[in-house]
Amino acid sequence: MIGAASGGKLEFVQAVGADLAVDYAVPDWPERVRAAVPAGVDVVLDAVGGEVLRQSLGLLAPFGRAVVYGAASGGADEIPVSSLFALRTVTGFNLTAWRRFAPDRARAEMAEVAALFAGGRLRTSVHAELPLAEAATAHKLMEERAHTGRLLLRP
Ligand SMILES: NC(=O)c1ccc[n+]([C@@H]2O[C@H](COP(=O)([O-])OP(=O)(O)OC[C@H]3O[C@@H](n4cnc5c(N)ncnc54)[C@H](OP(=O)(O)O)[C@@H]3O)[C@@H](O)[C@H]2O)c1
Repeated sequence: MIGAASGGKLEFVQAVGADLAVDYAVPDWPERVRAAVPAGVDVVLDAVGGEVLRQSLGLLAPFGRAVVYGAASGGADEIPVSSLFALRTVTGFNLTAWRRFAPDRARAEMAEVAALFAGGRLRTSVHAELPLAEAATAHKLMEERAHTGRLLLRP
């Protein structure tokens, strides 16, 4: 598994399980991925969008699939159709749509995820837990991209 993030977060990315962590702010980052997986990657999971998404599509192996579930960089609208000619697929995921259009499946799968958490087989990272009154601090951390892991607000 290869994790991509900005430079200051690479240690974190490896600590949570990536075999290789690459800095997508460095222009030749796709070359590092190609060197590690010359045949291309099977799956891309992307929540950044924009240029990072476009570069990621070029790393997919034939029959590979990209799942786009967010656009933190602000753009996911311009995927060149020609990038799909090499038998690649791009699909999307959104929790709200999943619950709306497949509620039974969503409920069952969320129960499965909850059981994995309860059993200690899934874990998440919490960067900070703050009182609701400090929501502005949470926003500031997000705007500064200073967080690694979730920001929790408690009532
Ligand atoms: N589809 C769904 O069901 C679903 C569910 C939850 C979230 N989302 C979406 O997924 C995206 C990420 O959510 P998240 O909760 O992981 O957010 P997050 O904790 O704020 O992380 C977003 C990360 O994106 C990276 N990033 C790259 N370019 C950026 C830019 N120009 N501005 C800000 N951040 C940038 C930053 O990491 P670096 O500093 O390492 O670059 C940042 O830490 C959002 O678009 C959110 O709406 C979708």
